[in-house]
Amino acid sequence: MTPSDVKATLSFSDGSPGIDMPLYKGTHGPDVIDIRKLYAQTGKFTYDPGFLSTASCQSTITYIDGDKGELLYRGYPIEQLAEKCDFLDTCYLLLKGDLPNGQQQKDFHKLVTNHTMVNEQMQFFLRGFRRDAHPMAVLTGLVGALSAFYHDSTDINNPQHREVAAIRLIAKMPTLVAMAYKYGVGQPFIYPQNDLSYAGNFMRMMFATPCEPYKPNDVLVRAMDRIFILHADHEQNASTSTVRLCGSSGTNPFAAIAAGVACLWGPAHGGANEAALNMLEDIQRNGGVEKIGEFIKQVKDKNSNVKLMGFGHRVYKNYDPRAKLMRETCHEVLGELGLHDDPMFKLAMTLEKIALEDDYFVSRKLYPNVDFYSGIVQRAIGIPVPLFTAIFALARTVGWIAQLNEMIGDPEYKIGRPRQLYTGAARRDVKSVDQR
Ligand code: CMC
Repeated sequence: MTPSDVKATLSFSDGSPGIDMPLYKGTHGPDVIDIRKLYAQTGKFTYDPGFLSTASCQSTITYIDGDKGELLYRGYPIEQLAEKCDFLDTCYLLLKGDLPNGQQQKDFHKLVTNHTMVNEQMQFFLRGFRRDAHPMAVLTGLVGALSAFYHDSTDINNPQHREVAAIRLIAKMPTLVAMAYKYGVGQPFIYPQNDLSYAGNFMRMMFATPCEPYKPNDVLVRAMDRIFILHADHEQNASTSTVRLCGSSGTNPFAAIAAGVACLWGPAHGGANEAALNMLEDIQRNGGVEKIGEFIKQVKDKNSNVKLMGFGHRVYKNYDPRAKLMRETCHEVLGELGLHDDPMFKLAMTLEKIALEDDYFVSRKLYPNVDFYSGIVQRAIGIPVPLFTAIFALARTVGWIAQLNEMIGDPEYKIGRPRQLYTGAARRDVKSVDQR
């Protein structure tokens, strides 16, 4: 944080003394006003539900320029990473601050693949779930349960523990997601095969059976890898902030990441990819392209509670760069599978075009986000809809860990403890039952 010469001055209309507050500059983005001494100096809190104007931390990991529609991981544009790197390069970058050289790449790959198996006991734990449980319910449980299996990596204040926990989580998430899937469909679990790429191994654990040889399709593996890269981190979103807040109490890394998984599940966040595809399927079932006008009318009706899922973002007030890349991947995957005429993709493109020309969306700067197209890609690859958010969680795990570790290493970090504006009943006395 670079202090600025400019100070922010807060004054009060009732004549109470005003105060000066320091201003800091980041590498990019708006300056921040340091309000940490505000309460001590004025006896007042700030009020900012939803963190609309609050920077909760300083971070060196990810930067979003919402007006330009730009996303940088450690300074590198997402488009270049998606083009020139794979997911494990991206993990290395997010965790360590720069891209690996050839040797570092090899070593990191080996390190991660050494941890892809999960404790055999996890299977029995998994079997306690109903087979029709939502994969995110299962994953929240499985990730939390890791802390019951890996006692040598649960001390968040020990850098070695944090390092091993990070690698374990990145390595084991694909195994856990695939196990949750296989359990749901009643097929045998497929163990990891470490000579495959990270995404290739995941696809094999998902789609192979012991009865037949399985060879992952390169185009689909690349698409899956791109999904992972695009979802790897996204600065202080709801689940990342949850992980930071949870970890700020000193809890173990697996528990903190499980909290992130739980938060991601919601339809306003990671659950939007599932919700977006369900929405497209609904429109398709009820008349398809012909019915888009009617659907958009409902979306615009304040009383309907219907949203155009996969559209809008707290930070992006322009096209989400991840959505552009995902649309490109969508073309590639559908081309590879001979599904050029996929009705869902056509419907999505028509819906996007209509929304982008409609004043409701234009005036509110609502553009497609990553979830608008990622569902179509995943569905084409053969991923069942309820598993979409689990795949998002798999990919976001590295971002959560990088952010958690950054927080622990920050000398300014404290347990997260927001304050409130209390508007409940004033102090009162308990009356005996017959007087209430
Ligand atoms: N469809 C219709 N109207 C919308 C939508 C939408 N998808 N998104 C925002 N609006 C309207 C909203 O009703 C409000 O209108 P008004 O000013 O008339 O009250 C205005 O646009 C501003 O919206 P907001 O709810 O104040 O914005 P927010 O920053 O609080 O919410 C959001 C952001 C992502 C939760 C919201 O846009 C949304 O619910 N989108 C659909 C769900 C979705 O696709 N989520 C995925 C986000 S990207 C992946 C991730 O990072 O998890």
